[in-house]
Amino acid sequence: MNARPQALDDVAAILRNARHVVVFTGAGVSAESGIPTFRDALTGLWERFDVAQLASAEGFAADPDLVWGWYEWRRMSVMRAQPNAAHRAIAALASKVPKLTLVTQNVDDLHERAGSEGVLHLHGSLFAPRCFDCCRPAPLASNLPDEPEGGRQVPPPRCEHCGGPLRPGVVWFGEMLPEDVLAHAFDAARTCDVLLCVGTSSVVFPAAQIPVDAHRAGAKVIQINPNATDLDAIADFNVRAPAAIALPAIVETAFR
Ligand code: OAD
Repeated sequence: MNARPQALDDVAAILRNARHVVVFTGAGVSAESGIPTFRDALTGLWERFDVAQLASAEGFAADPDLVWGWYEWRRMSVMRAQPNAAHRAIAALASKVPKLTLVTQNVDDLHERAGSEGVLHLHGSLFAPRCFDCCRPAPLASNLPDEPEGGRQVPPPRCEHCGGPLRPGVVWFGEMLPEDVLAHAFDAARTCDVLLCVGTSSVVFPAAQIPVDAHRAGAKVIQINPNATDLDAIADFNVRAPAAIALPAIVETAFR
């Protein structure tokens, strides 16, 4: 990993002495599980697909079959993927520090499958469909979808209460984040003493405000990302390495 050994030791010491760690993750933490990020050149979802069509209520209203099919492909990709060493290191860290709050922008369930509990999903979940019309939660089909790369037209199931089309339980552009989850995440950010920011471009708000608020409240901010982001300027440490390499090394160094 690119972090100088001294920096690795410093980061490990900060974690070892932490009282309350907030781990804030984005798509990069799942990249090494084979789940595409959104903005990485060539491979990012928003580089290859039309965000307005696939991640907005207007896009869904215009073509529900296209949008539902695309999310079925994404649900399939996640169900076929496995948590990686970064997800596992975060789950392990929770048992080594007095308190850990895990806040994710990801709509996959890889943190949970690695053993993390109480994960705060700021942007919803691929596994919690609800009715587009009456908003009631709907049961999730237990099948493993078998969809081609990029999805295809799949008519959404109908709501058992009102007959409206089901939509994925993710937060689309222009929609509010779940209020209680957001409040909990900001409260944790403002009261933690260490914030570990992993694999996010830090460009989507309000989520991107979380590490900034932690920094303003006096927490040490440690960023793990192979690429530069806007957070670099305020982070106390920028570890330029893939999460599945850097995180296990840091946790191992801190608690061996
Ligand atoms: P992005 O695709 O914007 O950013 C992914 C980040 O992960 C980039 O900064 C990469 O450099 C970094 N990265 C790539 N591989 C990595 C690795 N192996 N280890 C660590 N970092 C790596 O994804 P997010 O920041 O998560 O919103 O995007 C934020 C939101 O924008 C998403 O939650 C989604 C999207 O539109 C909704 O769905 C509402």
